[in-house]
Amino acid sequence: MPDFVVLAGVDQGLYLIFFLLTLLPALGVKTLVHRPTGGPMTSRARWILCLTGLVLLAALGQWGSTWLVYDSFGWPYIKDKMLGFLPLSLLPAIVAALVAVPRLWRLSVPQLAAQGMPGAVTDEEKARRQEASSPEMIVPLQALSLGAFLAATLHLILPSVTLQKEMLMIAWGLLLAGSSALWIWQSWQQQRYARSGPLHRPRLIIRFLQGAFVLLLLTACSLVWLNSARQASLLPERMSMANHPATDSRSMQASAEGHAQHTSAASVIKPVSVTELTGPQTGAPARRFTLTAQRAKVQLRSGKVVETWTYNGQYPGPLLRAKQGELIEVVLENKDISAGVTIHWHGLNVPNAEDGVAGATQDAVLPGEQHVYRFVAEQSGTFWYHSHQQSAEQVKKGLLGALVIEPAAQTNTPSLPTLDLTLVHHKLGGGGGLTLNGNIGLLREKVSPGTSVRLRLVNADSFPAPFQLQGTSFQVAAIDGNEVNEPNLIANQTLLLAAGGRYDVTFTMPDASVFLAPSQTDNSRGLLLSPDGTGEVPVLHPDLPAFDPASYGSPQPLPFDSQTRFDRDYRLVFDVQFGFYDGKLDGLWTINGKVFPHTPMLMVKEGDLVKMTFINRSYMDHPMHLHGHHMLVLSRNGTPTTGSPWWTDTLNVAPGETYEVAFRADNPGLWMDHCHNLIHASLGMTMHLLYEGVTSPFEVGHQTRNQPE
Ligand code: C2O
Ligand code: CU
Repeated sequence: MPDFVVLAGVDQGLYLIFFLLTLLPALGVKTLVHRPTGGPMTSRARWILCLTGLVLLAALGQWGSTWLVYDSFGWPYIKDKMLGFLPLSLLPAIVAALVAVPRLWRLSVPQLAAQGMPGAVTDEEKARRQEASSPEMIVPLQALSLGAFLAATLHLILPSVTLQKEMLMIAWGLLLAGSSALWIWQSWQQQRYARSGPLHRPRLIIRFLQGAFVLLLLTACSLVWLNSARQASLLPERMSMANHPATDSRSMQASAEGHAQHTSAASVIKPVSVTELTGPQTGAPARRFTLTAQRAKVQLRSGKVVETWTYNGQYPGPLLRAKQGELIEVVLENKDISAGVTIHWHGLNVPNAEDGVAGATQDAVLPGEQHVYRFVAEQSGTFWYHSHQQSAEQVKKGLLGALVIEPAAQTNTPSLPTLDLTLVHHKLGGGGGLTLNGNIGLLREKVSPGTSVRLRLVNADSFPAPFQLQGTSFQVAAIDGNEVNEPNLIANQTLLLAAGGRYDVTFTMPDASVFLAPSQTDNSRGLLLSPDGTGEVPVLHPDLPAFDPASYGSPQPLPFDSQTRFDRDYRLVFDVQFGFYDGKLDGLWTINGKVFPHTPMLMVKEGDLVKMTFINRSYMDHPMHLHGHHMLVLSRNGTPTTGSPWWTDTLNVAPGETYEVAFRADNPGLWMDHCHNLIHASLGMTMHLLYEGVTSPFEVGHQTRNQPE
């Protein structure tokens, strides 16, 4: 498959090139009438004819590249081009080919008629001038350029506009109005030329002033438009996430295809507040942890001291371990993080009130305050925790840690030595750089041969991490805390771990050393296991094939698959565009053309089977993380998954990829569903999953203490 970023990037670039090309005949054709009607006009007409031919060829090229995108990635990837951008230049191109080209052709045929008296204008010449200034020849070429300009602007700035009917109406309105104005102007010019004697082009200064005026007008219009877009992007001072503007049924229909109509008068749903959806409020906890959010200075191996935000003064925060089925109580205290903090248990499907999202399930905990989380760990596996208040900033600064839940029934073979190591990959802000368990550089561990090793890889960073394990074959025993069924032994594969995702890797320690690095090229960071704790670090292989969870392990009966009738079916298309978010200009990662709070609200009823299709037409990875549920991956790029059931809570959707996932709505509440590139999330790449009847008393916005992203 060709690289999506390259192909789609070229396709997008062609819109700009095409527009620039159309300028040549559009500007050139106006000067025809000022050429002496003999040879000079003929040769200029030939030039313009050639340029027009070139433009029409480029239009074919545009269609070709759209076809290539379609051929490799399918209809959803070209839908907006076909319905939105291409017609804007296609229609004028057809008119230009049918109406302007024949006239240009006539003018480019040499005239043999004798020249009249110098200074006088013959009828022959008059006729040629009429033709050379005719709106039928000039306006189609100008309209083509205008259409190409509109298409390029839309495609480069708002690539998902067909989902925004208003924008398309404006574009077509501008094309029509612009062409009409040009027609009127050109008809008037034609009459003027017919009347006058010898023609002179307007003086340079006049033309300069005309150009400057047009530019000024355009600048003024764009400034007005930019300012209103900026204003419109300002987030409400306070709002409830449970009633985002996009919850009403009309926009729901727009975002859900084939969405079953469930709500009927017969099924009245009792309203419940998220604050009632707690874990057990009584009973002695089996584990009790206190996590104090506080500023701390951390000295990295390099000697550098970095100001971090920590839980308990540690970076990363303390590793929490518990057993499946245990009641866990965590007391969160905030010492001095002035914006407030929370703790979200990433991947653990806790009751909604314990989910730790500021503004959705609780208020951010301000300095001096406390919040208690109580839940039973129903799952086992590798998880992590992090603040979900201003998470882009707070996670970057260090408010995170790993959480391991051991299976209730440990199959203990005490004779076998074991090593169970959790490794948190993260890029620390404030100049800290990439760290593994808070370390820059090499970690060494002495492990005797024969030891059964489990490495729990946690990617707490915002970008996929390409882990490489050298010196042994291994198994990927668990993905996002879910055991893989019959994981086969593999070697020499890159483990591309999604941002927010986890892989448990197991192997038996060989006689020689084993090296794990979160990189494909840089072997200066990582973990070296060896029988004597020393040893050389091997060279990494930059081109190893990527481990593919879609076909790994052995299949098992599935609770649902692509053939299942789903109660809800949501289609979520990711694009990138320029725009304002809360008043700031940035690249926006849109879901169905929108950013929060205008992104679709995924409505469900308890017990629903829900399918989601992710389509990534943008140029970056989007690790989609659903709170409170695990998603089963049904297919990727139309191909059903084949290996062990692939359950995930954070699925990386790479550019050009389409995934179908499904889950059972079995954990009532208000849940976030967002991109775990936390920068994207903070720019509005978040949605919510809301169970019918669930309300939340918490609010987000500048006027509240809560800014979850
Ligand atoms: Cu790990 Cu909503 O996040
Ligand atoms: Cu993203």
